Amino acid sequence: MRTKRTPGDVKDLQLADQGVSRIEWAARGMPVLEIIRKRFTKERPLDGLRISACLHVTSETANLALTLRDGGAQVALCASNPLSTQDDVAAALVERYEIPTYSIRGADNETYYKHIHSALEHSPHITLDDGADLVAIVHTERQDLLNNIKGGTEETTTGVTRLRALARDSKLLYPIIVVNDADTKHLFDNRYGTGQSTLDGITRATNLLWAGSKVVIAGYGWCGRGVANRARGLGSHVIVTEIDPIRALEAVMDGFQVMPMLEAAKTGDVFITVTGGLNAIDKAHLEIMKDGAILANSGHFNVEINIPALIKMSKTQRTVRGSVEEFSLKDGRRLFLLGEGRLINLAAAEGHPSAVMDMSFANQALAVEFLNQQSEGLTPNVHQVPQEIDREVGRLKLASLSIGIDTLTIEQEKYISSWDIGT
Ligand code: ADE
Repeated sequence: MRTKRTPGDVKDLQLADQGVSRIEWAARGMPVLEIIRKRFTKERPLDGLRISACLHVTSETANLALTLRDGGAQVALCASNPLSTQDDVAAALVERYEIPTYSIRGADNETYYKHIHSALEHSPHITLDDGADLVAIVHTERQDLLNNIKGGTEETTTGVTRLRALARDSKLLYPIIVVNDADTKHLFDNRYGTGQSTLDGITRATNLLWAGSKVVIAGYGWCGRGVANRARGLGSHVIVTEIDPIRALEAVMDGFQVMPMLEAAKTGDVFITVTGGLNAIDKAHLEIMKDGAILANSGHFNVEINIPALIKMSKTQRTVRGSVEEFSLKDGRRLFLLGEGRLINLAAAEGHPSAVMDMSFANQALAVEFLNQQSEGLTPNVHQVPQEIDREVGRLKLASLSIGIDTLTIEQEKYISSWDIGT
């Protein structure tokens, strides 16, 4: 029997039972995290550690929070995007698992930031970010917390970009492990996770037939590669736009059509931004799109489509189905914006499947353990996930799939590490 209510701000605690079912279902797809959780439960490597986490509040994130809790940490959680919270999961975290959670799907800007501040009231030793919002607030408004903070982690490309900018200006004040950059994170989560969940979100929102559609993908990083390949797999005619010549060439040699957005804008049926940048779809592009074009973003922030320009160009705006907003333009065309331009895979679907978040969050859990043990030796800079952790996650994932691989013989080891054996 609980004597004290767990603090939190969630939509409806009555959703807790449904949240528990979904969290348990997700756990079935996260065997690597489960192995770590079992070890953490036995060894308690995080005893006494306070963690504030600003992540998408999903059933997968709940399993990460439970892993950290079972390792001995006290975890407080808030959302890293106003539209990504699964309200039943948030309810379960507060009501059944006693993890303070501040997160409501559809929160306005003020509530979103209030929740970040609430998670920071926990006075963390370690911050976990997906997009660097906690780091940003600590560095601007809550420098008083710095005394306690040992380090942090960052989950996503956009967050890493922000942190690198902070470090470049010599303003980053504590060490951050960039989980995003681990091979077992971005090669799988960004590529296969974003690839699948982005198409899932757009499909759920629109019921679109991908086969035969002209799909324009802005950005050919790991996320763009994933989305492009999955769209092609469903029979779409895929056009890629890029600003980086090497990536553009890669897209060409992967068999995609590459052109500037000003050209692509005229022919696309569906536009998907995954650049991590600003206004990849700008006013000039919106002005020449076909009537009925669909616009979706799967990058971290809702700035990749110039929505203020879209609003200005419009006569009227109405919701035509969940996650689909119709903009009727003054020239008579209609454009459809999905999920308010927020990351469509979480706004209109459930985010990446558990099986891929398994690796991302295994890296997170092990990075937290590493930070707890080693933070004193780390400078206030951006640090890679140690290679041993990255490879261990890969090994465990393969083992969970019952897939064996070869090992080098002594003779092969010698060959590969020598310089003097030639023809
Ligand atoms: N980012 C993308 N998909 C996610 C998920 N399912 N859980 C947490 N963060 C995510």
